Amino acid sequence: MNMIKEKDLFSPIQLGQYTLKNRIIMAPLTRCRAVNNIPIEMNRIYYQQRASAGLIITEGTQISQQGAGYPNTPGIYNHKQIKAWQKITEAVHARDGRIFLQLWHVGRVSYPGIQPNEEPPVAPSAIKAEGDYVQPRALEIYDIDEIVLDYKDAADNALAAGFDGVEVHAANGYLIDQFLRDATNKRDDKYGGDYKNRSRFLFKVLEAVIAVWGSDRVGLRLSPTNSFNGMSDSNPEALFKYVVAGLNPLNLAYLHILEGSIHVADESIASSSFDARSLRDVYTGTYIANNGYNKESANQAIATGSADLVSFGDLFISNPDLPERFLQNAALNQTDLDTRYGGDEKGYIDYPMLEPLAI
Ligand code: PHB
Repeated sequence: MNMIKEKDLFSPIQLGQYTLKNRIIMAPLTRCRAVNNIPIEMNRIYYQQRASAGLIITEGTQISQQGAGYPNTPGIYNHKQIKAWQKITEAVHARDGRIFLQLWHVGRVSYPGIQPNEEPPVAPSAIKAEGDYVQPRALEIYDIDEIVLDYKDAADNALAAGFDGVEVHAANGYLIDQFLRDATNKRDDKYGGDYKNRSRFLFKVLEAVIAVWGSDRVGLRLSPTNSFNGMSDSNPEALFKYVVAGLNPLNLAYLHILEGSIHVADESIASSSFDARSLRDVYTGTYIANNGYNKESANQAIATGSADLVSFGDLFISNPDLPERFLQNAALNQTDLDTRYGGDEKGYIDYPMLEPLAI
């Protein structure tokens, strides 16, 4: 019998111009360990430890000071940040890794004291996020044009910092997602109303970033059913099918979908809408699945074609050598949630590896 080996997490794959060594992707993870929004040495070690991933997608990184929402998250809008990220990209490349920078603007999801000069955060509409966030002001058209330019500048800076590509963060209730979904977008201009108008900002941002990088080094992250940050939409299936159909001709490096929901006790909101995995069938390009996968379910998703690659978040926090552990069927370290956000080296660069790296 002619046995054809099924594709799995270890089958090499072409992602745009890069041949990845495996399909085990490190998901973007906010860790709140930069200082003054500038990456530090400990951040370099953290990323270098994880360079055996087929691709690292960095933590969300602010395109501007206005794009920041949380303490100690990094940016990519000034020279010091570019220099600091350069050390990280060099460290990952020295271990034969690949690394994309995630471009982030939080919109209304900004804690008190984070915005410069006590300015309010910005959003498509002046609707406050639940919780300890500041009341935002609604963006004017000229503000929107400026933010698109900020994305372009940030994309330029990412190129200067030596990244292999960028991921546009349009998920999880941050600025682009606030435009997409109608719980947070009540505008009556060309950026609000029907889903064509609500997607306009996303496509402008993509156009600006693609102009810098070329489409084959730009990825996009969406979370069509994630209710985190108070998000919902009256017809998410129609909205996101429209968005994904519009992505097809762009030939991006990949589409990265957070399936289901995160940070919510009540999953029924996500499960009562539609199944985000159905977007796989609408998308003609490379699909990265995310959220709650383990080795078995990821291999199955790849073997059956419901994903091309799978990204892992928590598992990469606690298992820097996750690909090797999957290969050997080794035990996995558990993630310490107390050290997930902020703090020092503990719970950041001290998770044990099977073969410790000399870094
Ligand atoms: C988080 O801080 O938990 C977080 C940040 C960015 C995301 C998702 C979650 O996109």
